[in-house]
Amino acid sequence: MTMLRINNAVTANVFLDMALERGLALDSIELLAGATVEYIDSVREVSGMDKVNLREKLSSFSEQWSPKVIAEMNDYQFKLVKIEGEFVWHEHDDTDEAFIVIEGSMRIEFEDGSVELDEGEMYVVPKGVRHKPCADTECKVMLVEPKGVVNTGDADSELTAPNDEWI
Ligand code: NI
Repeated sequence: MTMLRINNAVTANVFLDMALERGLALDSIELLAGATVEYIDSVREVSGMDKVNLREKLSSFSEQWSPKVIAEMNDYQFKLVKIEGEFVWHEHDDTDEAFIVIEGSMRIEFEDGSVELDEGEMYVVPKGVRHKPCADTECKVMLVEPKGVVNTGDADSELTAPNDEWI
């Protein structure tokens, strides 16, 4: 583990340069007398994000069929969504779409069949394939897809949800 000791003789700029160079994580830094909290805040920005708890995030909203963004990785977003009943038939012309079931079970219908997903299972719908997600009782799902993907794809529907809504 790389340990960096910070004291008041180190300026914020020098410290940040060192942190950037070494890709330091927050727990690898030891503060000595005189170092300030602002330094820690700066490091958090450099080293990454706060951890995300899926259950906490899921308990923070009740709306169905409206994906909420919880994290981004490169151009991709991780979204949580609660679904119940039948969605609309649609397709995404530019991207695949990953469904990961966190709690409950769901079904994705296709024009030539369907796939049942239980808790802990996932499926990637290929781009351009028409699909309709369904759930008999509420199911909690994580979606992974590029930023900007509209939930209803090419379909013109009242179920179209606002995009890029973070929780
Ligand atoms: Ni879709």
